[in-house]
Amino acid sequence: MMTDILPANDPAALDEAARVLARGGLVAVPTETVYGLAADATQGEAVARIYEAKSRPRFNPLIVHVDSLERAGRLIELSGTGQALARAFWPGPLTLVAPMRADAGIASLVTAGLDTLAVRWPDAPALTGLVSRLGRPLAAPSANLSGTVSPTEAAHVLESLGGRIELILDGGPCRIGVESTIICLESGAPALLRPGGIPREALEAICGPLATPAGDPGRPTAPGQLSSHYAPKAPVRLNAIRPRGSEGYLAFGKPPEGVGYDVINLSERSDLAEAASKLFAALRSLDSRCPAIAVAPIPDEGLGEAINDRLRRAAADRSTTR
Ligand code: TXA
Ligand code: MG
Repeated sequence: MMTDILPANDPAALDEAARVLARGGLVAVPTETVYGLAADATQGEAVARIYEAKSRPRFNPLIVHVDSLERAGRLIELSGTGQALARAFWPGPLTLVAPMRADAGIASLVTAGLDTLAVRWPDAPALTGLVSRLGRPLAAPSANLSGTVSPTEAAHVLESLGGRIELILDGGPCRIGVESTIICLESGAPALLRPGGIPREALEAICGPLATPAGDPGRPTAPGQLSSHYAPKAPVRLNAIRPRGSEGYLAFGKPPEGVGYDVINLSERSDLAEAASKLFAALRSLDSRCPAIAVAPIPDEGLGEAINDRLRRAAADRSTTR
C-alpha cells in the first residue's frame, strides 16, 4: 500500500482524509499530544485494521476522539465531576473514562469488551475537523508500532507505519509531546490511570485529590498498560548524573562537565513543558545512534510526572513483554 502525506491544514486534504475514513481506511493525524492513528470508531473492521497496522495486542482498548462536549455526552455518562473536568480542560490533553451508553454505537473492539469508554476532545483542528466531516467519533491510539516510542512528527509515523496505512496528515511537531492524562470516573473518586499532558495539580484544583488505582506499583492498571512501553531499542538508565562509556545522554538543565559524549538537552532552562515536547523525538534520535542511553534526573512535579512515567516505561525490563 502507498502511504500518502498531505498537509494537515489544507481543507481539501481533510476532505480526502474523511473519504478514506468513511470507507474504513486509516489516517495518521497530528494532535497537540502525539500523532494518532485514526479509524471510524463505529466500523469494527476499520478498528481491527488499527490493531493490525500497529501489531497491537487485542486486549488494549482505544481512546475515542470527539469534536464537542455534546458528542461526548452521546457516548458516555458523565458525572458532575466529569462535566467539571471536561469544561475546564476540553478541548485539550485530557481523556475521560466513564460508563458507555448502551446506544453509543461504538465497535466492541474499541473497548476490548469493557463497559467503559475512554473519550477525548483534542485541541487539534485536523482531528476534530475529521470528526465533524465524518459525523462520527474516531478511535485513535498513538500512530506507532505497539511498544515503541510515540510519534511527535509526521516523519516518525512514516518510519514505523509507512506502507501500512493510507494517509498521513502532516501538521509539524506536536505542541505538547506526551499523551493525554487519563482519568477514570467509573466509581467514587476520580482516579489517575495515566499521567499526561494536563498536570495532576491542575486537575486536582478542579476535582480534588486523584486516587491512584489499586494494584502493584509499576504494574498495569488500565488494561493493556504494559510496563515496558515507549521502548527504544537501546537500554535506558534513569537518574544518571552523567553518562558512562558510550552512553548517549538525555540532559535536563545544565549538562554535566566533560566532553566527548553525545548529548541532547530536553530543556537548558529546566522547563518541563519544553522537555515534554522534545522527549520522544530525543529518545528516537539517541536510539538511532547510541548503544545505550542515560537520562538526567527530572523533577516529578507538573508535566514531570508524565515525563518520568514514560521514561520508567522506556527503561523497564522488556523480558516480560517481548
Ligand atoms: O494523547 C493521547 O491520548 C493519544 C492521542 C492520539 O489522542 N492517544 C493515545 O492512545 O495515547 P493510546 O491508545 O496509545 O493509549 C490509550 C490508553 C491505553 O493505555 C488504554 O489502556 C487506555 O487508554 N484505555 C482506553 N480505554 C480504556 C478504558 N475503557 N478503561 C481504562 N483504560 C482505557
Ligand atoms: Mg500509545
